[in-house]
Amino acid sequence: MFRSDLLKGKKILVTGGGTGLGKTMATRFMELGAEVAICGRRKAVLDETAAELAEATGGRISTHAVDIRVPQAVEEMIAEIWASGPLDGLVNNAAGNFLSRTEDLSARAFDAIAGIVLHGTFYVTSACGRRWLAEGRKASVLSILTTWVWTGSPYTVPSAMSKAGVAAMTQSLAVEWGPRGIRCNAIAPGPFPTEGAWERLRIGGRKAESKDDYATNPMRRAGEQRELGNFAAFLMADECAYINGEVIAMDGGAWLNNAGNYARLWSLGDDDWKRMREQVQSQNVKDKSQRSV
Ligand code: HXC
Repeated sequence: MFRSDLLKGKKILVTGGGTGLGKTMATRFMELGAEVAICGRRKAVLDETAAELAEATGGRISTHAVDIRVPQAVEEMIAEIWASGPLDGLVNNAAGNFLSRTEDLSARAFDAIAGIVLHGTFYVTSACGRRWLAEGRKASVLSILTTWVWTGSPYTVPSAMSKAGVAAMTQSLAVEWGPRGIRCNAIAPGPFPTEGAWERLRIGGRKAESKDDYATNPMRRAGEQRELGNFAAFLMADECAYINGEVIAMDGGAWLNNAGNYARLWSLGDDDWKRMREQVQSQNVKDKSQRSV
């Protein structure tokens, strides 16, 4: 889909890059020539991913063990990354989430999620942003959100609130930092099954995925990892740099499936549609018979 040197010369940090969507994006960036830094809380997982990606792509990758909820630790990590060369891009991918009734959440439970998604994303973005602004460097920030930023999401309220906050950050910084060469965008992915999310968000401990999981998705399927990797690469590349301040869904159209009243008419067959037409026509005939002009 892309030139193999699309991201050559760029250095990109992917938070939560050791697993899941973060690993997918890191892989795609490296395939397209970028140098990548990944961070997360588990050093062994990061190192294993780094070895795998270096082997698979021949690219350069560094790993950084950090809990992004701790601002001082974030500052130290960003200083360490900058010491070997400045970043050109940041992907705010690290997140935390679990299903819970909101009335069952303790303050610490809320903080555990908001600390990663809202506060941690801000700490990393501001640590990078300050450096880019001081150096007059162009850069791109991409945040991974969800479509819940538009709809809200029951039983995952701390995540929905925090991701909505990051959407507001994206739009705000697009305007504040745009004139100084830093653009900010976000992807709101729909279902891209990963172990970290699906083990925490699958309803009632259900194990296997079923086709019914996607019955209300217009594309009738989950997203494929490579699709998200390609979209992230597209937004990190310079060739469409006029995109700034956008939160773009990549969910097969799922969040729109309640648009209007008729999304569920998918299940109607030819005979049903014939009957519907006859129903309308018979009403038209009735109306016409009562017309005086
Ligand atoms: C209620 C819970 C809970 C649960 C934890 N807590 N799990 N409360 N229901 N299922 C409470 C704990 O009791 C504790 O509060 C507080 O939260 C902190 O818990 P810890 O386990 O000490 O937290 P920590 O080790 O920091 O772990 C953070 C975490 C964890 C967020 C809770 O799940 C995590 O590390 N997740 C990272 C990976 C992840 O979540 N990936 C999925 C992202 S999916 P008390 O008061 O008891 O001390 C995503 C959006 C996907 O972001 C969108 C898909 C469409």
